[in-house]
Amino acid sequence: MKQRILSGIKPTGRPHLGNYFGAMRQFVDMAGEFETFVMVANYHALTTVHNKDVLVSDTKDLILDYLALGLRDKGAAIFLQSDIPEHTEMAWVFECLTTVPYLMRAHAFKDAEGKGKEVSAGLFNYPLLMAADILLYQPDKVPVGKDQAQHIEYARDTAEKFNRIFGEAFRVPEAHIQSEGSTVPGLDGKKMSKSYNNTIPLFATDEEIDRAVALIVTDSKKPDEPKSTQGDTLYALHSLVSPHDLPMITKAYEEGGMGYKDLKALLAQNIKTMVAPLRERRAALAEDPHIIEETLAHGRDTVRPIAQETMRKARELIGVVW
Ligand code: AMP
Ligand code: TRP
Repeated sequence: MKQRILSGIKPTGRPHLGNYFGAMRQFVDMAGEFETFVMVANYHALTTVHNKDVLVSDTKDLILDYLALGLRDKGAAIFLQSDIPEHTEMAWVFECLTTVPYLMRAHAFKDAEGKGKEVSAGLFNYPLLMAADILLYQPDKVPVGKDQAQHIEYARDTAEKFNRIFGEAFRVPEAHIQSEGSTVPGLDGKKMSKSYNNTIPLFATDEEIDRAVALIVTDSKKPDEPKSTQGDTLYALHSLVSPHDLPMITKAYEEGGMGYKDLKALLAQNIKTMVAPLRERRAALAEDPHIIEETLAHGRDTVRPIAQETMRKARELIGVVW
């Protein structure tokens, strides 16, 4: 029996290299070895996206992105969160077990509050919907970027709490966070994030790649001077995108001999080489008018029975059926 992984990404704008190296690449790499469920977290996106056309188009785009990475070919089930009503049902049960002070410690909530934003009840409860996403499928591992580590802890705590109060219903899953690419820096050196406007989109055009790479912030060291690899955004991106060139690049950093201009040109080139086949594949897939519906139907049929079985057990244990 294969172990199972489950993960999800919100359909909110174009995925970027942070999503790819932090999460998506792991889904692809693990899909052969693990039974793989990959979700489009559209109900999580609803915490920020309040526009039908935007949500529909970002949802379809993310499904094409997943397909272009070859997830279906590797046997993964790709499904839409809102297709499986057990997620929101399970989340309610978890909300009744979880205290407000515990949820107030969530980074996402604290950030939003700190910035003086109005926090919806949905955003506040976000970790519990995510716990439901995960726990319904009894996965062994949840591959995510480092910024999601706390959310996985919430899911684990929730599973343990339910199991303790009502009886064993859930496997307690582990986060799977690769040290390489755990936090990919953006153009300005902060975490690459759609909300910081510092991204390199994964399916960018060559021109977009050139423009983005030109904006990567560096210090003002001359080509001959040694440069620090520590905390250097350009180097961090090279170490993800340019594994074959990395010994040469590391040497150029340590001993001098290559300027930031050339280092950027090489990075842009290597990103293009990586992205071009994905981009072509995506364009070809987008021609098929049925592919999205087919993908979601397959995903739904594969995962729903598992969610239903977990929900059935949970309903019995809490005492709403007997
Ligand atoms: P999101 O776009 O917030 O739904 O994130 C989807 C996945 O990408 C999650 O597993 C995140 O941890 C991961 N991720 C997002 N930004 C980064 C980043 N800058 N570095 C590493 N992983 C990231
Ligand atoms: N919260 C995750 C993010 O912002 C997305 C997500 C929703 C998720 N449900 C999930 C990730 C379940 C893993 C498992 O990146």
